[in-house]
Amino acid sequence: MLPTMIFEYLNRHVVGQEYAKKVLSVAVYNHYKRIYNNLPVQNSQTQTNTNPVGTQETNHPFTHRGLKPHLLHISGIGNPFPGVGFQHTVNPGGDQKSTSSQTAPGSAILDSKQHLLKLEKSNILLLGPTGSGKTLLAQTIAQCLDVPFAICDCTTLTQAGYVGEDIESVIAKLLQDANYVVERAQMGIVFLDEVDKIGAIPGIHQLRDVGGEGVQQGMLKMLEGTIVNVPERNSSRKLRGEMLQVDTTNILFVASGAYSGLDRLIARRKSEKYLGFGATPAAESPGRRAATLADVANMSPSTERDNKEKDMLLQQVEARDLIDFGMIPEFVGRFPVLVPFHTLDRDMLTRILTEPKNAIIPQYQMLFSMDKVELTFDIDALNAIASLAMERKTGARGLRAIMESLLLEPMFEVPGSDIVSVHITEQCVKGVEKPQYVKRDDSNEDDIQQAQHVHN
Ligand SMILES: Nc1ncnc2c1ncn2[C@@H]1O[C@H](COP(=O)(O)OP(=O)(O)OP(=O)(O)O)[C@@H](O)[C@H]1O
Ligand SMILES: [Mg+2]
Repeated sequence: MLPTMIFEYLNRHVVGQEYAKKVLSVAVYNHYKRIYNNLPVQNSQTQTNTNPVGTQETNHPFTHRGLKPHLLHISGIGNPFPGVGFQHTVNPGGDQKSTSSQTAPGSAILDSKQHLLKLEKSNILLLGPTGSGKTLLAQTIAQCLDVPFAICDCTTLTQAGYVGEDIESVIAKLLQDANYVVERAQMGIVFLDEVDKIGAIPGIHQLRDVGGEGVQQGMLKMLEGTIVNVPERNSSRKLRGEMLQVDTTNILFVASGAYSGLDRLIARRKSEKYLGFGATPAAESPGRRAATLADVANMSPSTERDNKEKDMLLQQVEARDLIDFGMIPEFVGRFPVLVPFHTLDRDMLTRILTEPKNAIIPQYQMLFSMDKVELTFDIDALNAIASLAMERKTGARGLRAIMESLLLEPMFEVPGSDIVSVHITEQCVKGVEKPQYVKRDDSNEDDIQQAQHVHN
């Protein structure tokens, strides 16, 4: 599975967000390379250096468990491509971090140093506006991965000892996905969703902040690599029965959060930099330029301009902005890759309605088809829905809400009636017209002829 293949797969489900898709494809690919590289070094040091891939396989500790062929199959760096993977430190690729230890071959000490060269992971932090596809991207990538994958909702996390899930539960989920095979869990990927919600809340006293800074601190070791004790299957958290020990060194962490308001922090930092200390952040010129832009833009000018400006700011995000937001420096430092998401513009929202696998419009068409009714939309109707969603500022989430209220009447009236097709025009979306129904005995078929059938 090459990065371009992963990218292609993501493309089919997620509209836009090219940069994020690219970063994740590369990260997943490198993750495969890394676990393939690191695991044998730990377990069979004497054989790893010069053996070709074939012999390597028989020596690999995982062979007995039947896991290795699986890994080889998905990673695409095994037998089918002997030249690609496993250049074990002799001729390292660009992704290897240290080159200093390979200058003078020969001595025994240097040899043993070479064995110790391990590829380190680069955890990823996704950030961007709500409803722009962060969670969707995580769920999509989970489908195409063959390593254990767990999505954890950080909003429920609390420090150990408080009501709520503690930090170990993150690894417990991964272990569950790995069918309680510890070795497999150790090469998994953990997705920490809503990670901005564990930002310290300014003004709340440290002692009471059970869900914020304390959780970040609790995660530090886990992110970097430590042994986490996880209760075995079926044993409840309270009883503390048998514990499994999971090493998190090779587990890749991908965090994501909306960080709403971060753009303002970035703007403040930039204006301080350019205007010097004491300058007012709200300078006059952006407002004027914005007003001019608003004149040229046609649809919903203020929203469009707002979004563009926010996106531009977010692209310049730096670790210190996240620290300003309430993340502790140690936490931010463990996510070297920051990936900003962009807001979805009207065209993308229109595409989201119909294009992705599992898009919204086909879903409703299927609902109607269960009543043997055809549901069709004018292209302009789709654009109008997207425009409405833009105004809501909830990203693609707004689309579903609009569809629900738009189709409420038809969904109420159609079942059990003699209606055979429902057509939605731009005027319906604007609330001026009612949806057009065609009844079974209706001879007026013009509407249907004009209708643009939307299908996936
Ligand atoms: N880029 C996109 N392409 C296709 N569908 C999208 C995209 N962005 C969002 N959606 C749709 O909108 C819904 C919400 O998106 P998602 O859950 O990914 O938002 P999010 O970025 O995680 O937001 P939040 O920060 O609020 O959690 C998804 O179920 C998906 O159907
Ligand atoms: Mg989300």
